[in-house]
Amino acid sequence: MCPAELGAAVVLLLFAALAAPACSQEMRDQAKVEPLEAAAFFGDGPGARAEPVGTVPRGALLDRALAAGEGPAGEPLTGFPMAVGEADLARGEALFGVYCVPCHGRLGLGDGMAVRRGYPAPPPLTLARVREAPVGDLVDVIAHGRANMPDYEMIAAPDRWRVVAWVRVLQLSQHADAAALSAADLAHLDAAGAGGAP
Ligand code: HEC
Repeated sequence: MCPAELGAAVVLLLFAALAAPACSQEMRDQAKVEPLEAAAFFGDGPGARAEPVGTVPRGALLDRALAAGEGPAGEPLTGFPMAVGEADLARGEALFGVYCVPCHGRLGLGDGMAVRRGYPAPPPLTLARVREAPVGDLVDVIAHGRANMPDYEMIAAPDRWRVVAWVRVLQLSQHADAAALSAADLAHLDAAGAGGAP
């Protein structure tokens, strides 16, 4: 072997030596105690530890009504568990803009940017089925996701209701019953002109 060949061989060997351990550097290969394996570390034998007194599963203390819109038997609630004022609607609108518009679109028509870029299209939130769904069911969709929709658990429980209140606003904005409007509101609409935007 000439010196150049020898040099190349050494470089290759070095590469192989460096690359080999890198292949097995996965977390599952680390030294750890498997479930129910014995371990000397704690002194009493088992590697598994008993749960500290008072431990509760994650989510077990949640108020199911507030967090997931469920009644005592798991049925969807049909009314809001809190009063909803203008500030709540404003917050609902803002959160809807952050979390829902990317797919559902600003009006809830199912034409958000993610959908335009290929995400499976949701049905319009203005469909009769969604308009007639109990509010608790809509909160449940936010809390747990549904089919192609991921959950939005990161939205705090009371805020889920504010988002749903905003969904109701969007639905009403496109399916308002003129007979339910006050005389003042009707006069306001007439002044704005039939179908005309202010
Ligand atoms: C990543 C895209 C995406 C985001 C973001 C998203 N959704 Fe959805 N949503 C979907 C899809 C897709 C469906 C249809 C699910 C299915 O396959 O049935 C859906 C369904 C729904 C439904 C049920 C409609 C029906 O068919 O009854 C509601 C209500 C809903 N979404 C509300 C929301 C709200 C409120 C937010 C924001 C907190 C939100 N979604 C955020 C994609 C999304």
